[in-house]
Amino acid sequence: MRIIFLGAPGVGKGTQADFIASKFQIPKISTGDLLRASVAQKTPLGKKAKEYMDKGQLVPDEVVIGLIEEKLNSEECQRGFLLDGFPRTVAQADALSRLLAAKQQPLDRVVHFVLSRKEIIKRLSGRRSCPSCSAVYHVEARPPQKEGMCDMCGAMLLQRSDDRPETIEARLKVYEQQTTPLIEYYRALGILSELDASGSVEEVQQRLLAILTRPGMA
Ligand code: AP5
Repeated sequence: MRIIFLGAPGVGKGTQADFIASKFQIPKISTGDLLRASVAQKTPLGKKAKEYMDKGQLVPDEVVIGLIEEKLNSEECQRGFLLDGFPRTVAQADALSRLLAAKQQPLDRVVHFVLSRKEIIKRLSGRRSCPSCSAVYHVEARPPQKEGMCDMCGAMLLQRSDDRPETIEARLKVYEQQTTPLIEYYRALGILSELDASGSVEEVQQRLLAILTRPGMA
């Protein structure tokens, strides 16, 4: 199964991606996670990416396309994959189409997560992330068992630097301007499904499963 999760920052894509990747035994590829790992390792790519990420802007297309190309050519992606946060521009979507056409691996589904702006801001401002294992929590909706500490690895949880109010605004604007055109892009290809991303994590999970287990899905 080859899937894309599309939607505004904080809509819950990463949370659901972990569940779906494990359920369908496919790798989750998150460009945000890959970029944050490069930033943490202080690689030349990470240093360049950080300048954009801290401002809530998109990292240049050629950088993320290179990252994705390397991943999709790896052995683990030959049986399918879930892309979380890629593509985010029409140029990225075109590059992905060319790459998959060359491999004769068409996309099965693009899921568009839909949520109100008010709820998105609430989810982003309450998010806490583990810098060590990337687990994600929310201070109200998904608190860790011990306050401020990751349930999985015990590391101290942090607020992502781009989850501050001014950067959240910038990211939402960038999403509107550069990523929303992809909704029509994939609708025109007949592979877009809209997902109501409101409600609890479990409720969203059930709606998502209903979409991904419909007859005709690979
Ligand atoms: P990235 O990491 O991809 O961030 P994003 O798309 O902005 O998405 P988020 O990770 O913020 O949100 P999410 O939808 O995954 O929500 P989550 O599940 O965590 O990108 C970061 C940056 O990297 C970009 O700004 C850009 O600079 C760069 N970048 C990445 N990809 C790029 C690309 N392709 N091109 C160029 N640049 C790129 O949930 C959010 C919170 O809500 C959590 O606290 C969670 O616990 C909680 N939550 C989840 N579901 C629910 C629910 N149902 N009810 C209540 N709370 C919930």
